[in-house]
Amino acid sequence: MRLMMIFAAWNAKLPATDECYYVRDNDKSEVSSLTTDQTELLRRKLDIVVKGDTTPPPILSFASCKLPRKLLENIEVAGYEMPTPVQMQAIPAALARQSLLVSAETGSGKTGSFLIPIVSQCAKFNEEHFQSQQQPLAMVLTPTRELCIQVEDQAKVLGKGLPFKTALVVGGDAMAGQLHRIQKGVSLIVGTPGRLIDLLTKHEIELDTISILVLDEVDCMLQRGFREQVIVFDMPNSIKEYVHQVGRASRMGEEGTSIVFVNEEDKKLFPELVEALKSSGAAIPRELANSRYSVGSFSAGRGQKKRKHGF
Ligand SMILES: Nc1ncnc2c1ncn2[C@@H]1O[C@H](COP(=O)(O)OP(=O)(O)OP(=O)(O)O)[C@@H](O)[C@H]1O
Ligand SMILES: [Mg+2]
Repeated sequence: MRLMMIFAAWNAKLPATDECYYVRDNDKSEVSSLTTDQTELLRRKLDIVVKGDTTPPPILSFASCKLPRKLLENIEVAGYEMPTPVQMQAIPAALARQSLLVSAETGSGKTGSFLIPIVSQCAKFNEEHFQSQQQPLAMVLTPTRELCIQVEDQAKVLGKGLPFKTALVVGGDAMAGQLHRIQKGVSLIVGTPGRLIDLLTKHEIELDTISILVLDEVDCMLQRGFREQVIVFDMPNSIKEYVHQVGRASRMGEEGTSIVFVNEEDKKLFPELVEALKSSGAAIPRELANSRYSVGSFSAGRGQKKRKHGF
C-alpha cells in the first residue's frame, strides 16, 4: 500500500473564527511562498493540528496543487470556492503520497479531502498509461451502503469528463452486477467491508493494482456497525508480530475478524501464516492456499485475506 488515508469525525467543536483569508486566483506559487512561520500561523488560526515533521504546508486554493484542469472545473461546478481547513492540509499531504490519519468535525469536507487526491492521481495515471480498460487504483471503505453511495456520487461529480470510472461494492444490489462493473474496468472501488469480504471470498478479483486505501468514518466502523471487526493492515515483518497485533486489537474489543493485506513480498511468511490460520480455526483464503509459496495443499474456503500491492 503506497498511500493509506484514515478519516474520522471529530466531535469537539472548532472555535468560531471570523478570520478571512484572501486568495488571489492566479497565484500558483503560494505554497512555496509560505514560510514556516506563516504555515504555523495559518495552522493555528484554522485550528489545524499536525503531527509529523514532513507534512507539507496547507494550500490556500485548489488551483495551487497541480490538479488536472478538468478536475478544477468540476470542483468549481460542485460549488467549492476554496478548500475547507481539513482539505487545505489533507490534500497536499495526500498528493505528496503521505499516509494520513485525519480527524475533523462533521460537515468539514473530509470526503473532498480524499476524493480530490484520488481523482487527480487516477486521472493522471490513466492519461499517462493508456490501457484499453481501467484497473482499480484506489479503494474507499465506509461503514454503510448509504455513505458509499454518497461518496461514489461525489466521486462521479469530481471525476466527470476525466478517465476515471467508479464501482460500488455494497449490499442490497446483486453482486453479479457489481462484479461485472469492476471487471469492465474501474479506477475507484467504494464499498463496505462486509460486502467486500463477501466479494473477495466468492470471486477471483485482482486488487493488486490498488495503491490508495481510504477508510472513511473509521470511528463509526469500529465503535458501532463494525464493532465486531478488527481491521489490521499491511502484513508485519513476522508472524509473531502479526499474532501480537491481532491479539492486541481483539483485547480492545470483542471477538472479531482480522483483515490483513499480504502480497508477494510477504511470501516467506506464507507457510507460517497458513499454520497460524489453521491453528486458530480461521478459513484459509483461496489465494493463500493456492500460492506456490505456501507449502502443502489446503482447502480454500471463506477467508479475509487478499493480496494487494501498488502499481
Ligand atoms: N471546499 C468546499 N466548499 C464548499 N462546500 C464544500 C467544500 N467541501 C465540501 N463541501 C460540502 O460540505 C458538505 C459536507 O462535506 P462532507 O460530507 O465531506 O463532510 P464530512 O467532513 O465528511 O462530514 P461527516 O463527518 O459528517 O462525514 C457537503 O455538502 C460538501 O459538498
Ligand atoms: Mg464524511
